[in-house]
Amino acid sequence: MAQLFPEQQHSAQQKLAQQLFEQQFQRVAELVCYAPGRVNLIGDHTDYNDGFVLPTAINYGTTIAASTREDNLVKVYAHDCDQQTNEFSLNEISFDQQMMWSNYVKGTLQALIKKHHDIKGANLVVTGNVPQGAGLSSSASFEIAILKAFSQLYQLDLDGISAALIGQQAENDFVGCNCGIMDQLISAMGQQGHAMLLDCKDLSFEDAPIPANLTLFIVNSNVKRGLVDSEYNLRREQCEQVAEHFGVSALREVSLTQLNADKEHIDPELFKRARHVISENARAVATLKALKNNDMATISVAMKESHASLRDDFEVTTKELDGLVEMIAKVLGAKGGVRMTGGGFGGCVVALVPTTMVEQVKDVVENNYEKEFGLKPSIYICTATQGAFR
Ligand code: GLA
Repeated sequence: MAQLFPEQQHSAQQKLAQQLFEQQFQRVAELVCYAPGRVNLIGDHTDYNDGFVLPTAINYGTTIAASTREDNLVKVYAHDCDQQTNEFSLNEISFDQQMMWSNYVKGTLQALIKKHHDIKGANLVVTGNVPQGAGLSSSASFEIAILKAFSQLYQLDLDGISAALIGQQAENDFVGCNCGIMDQLISAMGQQGHAMLLDCKDLSFEDAPIPANLTLFIVNSNVKRGLVDSEYNLRREQCEQVAEHFGVSALREVSLTQLNADKEHIDPELFKRARHVISENARAVATLKALKNNDMATISVAMKESHASLRDDFEVTTKELDGLVEMIAKVLGAKGGVRMTGGGFGGCVVALVPTTMVEQVKDVVENNYEKEFGLKPSIYICTATQGAFR
């Protein structure tokens, strides 16, 4: 049933969803559920290479108020979208070229009914505060919230890992984005106050507390990104080509020594892509250890190297992201870490900032970013929250 949230904004979102539900459907919702967005501390473009990622679930997310229906119809009211209502039958799910947001619901339910045949329709109201297209996984939090709603409405035997796989399947097979498992898995299985080192090969994970003296500081460059439109799928293909070159299933199985030894036989661009992935895996693992030891100097270097690798080898940063990282790094020195986060091509940077330095970092961003790049930054001070299925 209705979940309690640590943050006041969540309870406001919950109330709003309930009110909207009553307006739309003239009755009280049977339940309200919630799934968080995420920020990735380190380990980007590694998940679809069977590698390591280190994300946390954040206190921005998607809330759904829901009730069962007797028939197979799904009626959705999406409060934050331009065209707000969509209706379809579970018996006939097809891609919607006009109302793109509805495809997340459709894709998720299409994947869900493959395993759970006996669900019926639902009335749904959706609202959320994850900025869209910012690289903070608004879509994964949407998918996981849908799955949480259906699993509660129909008492499904659905755990967090299975839910994450279904969400990923919706993206891969229906929406058309070949994303990895990170976003859905952390939205489902994040642990409050912790980051999660996830091994994307076998989906085992380990939580590490975020040291109490650090603040999760996120800046949206407000350069809009779209994973499907961007070169995301191309990057994935390039990685797969190198894995194939080595005769293995994923780049996870290739070491830096092996890669370097075969440099002459690999296209220079593909070589750089693979070097990023392999070195980034090592940085994610090292950062987990450093987090556990509150070893900020090591975290700082790892985040710096990660950004440089995403910029130079993987080529997914933008001048705005590079600029933000540079101005924040200058203030933080070895006392904190900063890098771009997520898929890239715009979106956000994430910084681990000693709480005593938050105001200073905020000032630097507010005084310089717009001046240099002509875009207003959005700053999110976040906490690590609990996943929907944990
Ligand atoms: C997007 C994808 C994830 C992951 C990141 C990059 O967020 O959805 O699966 O690949 O990009 O790390």
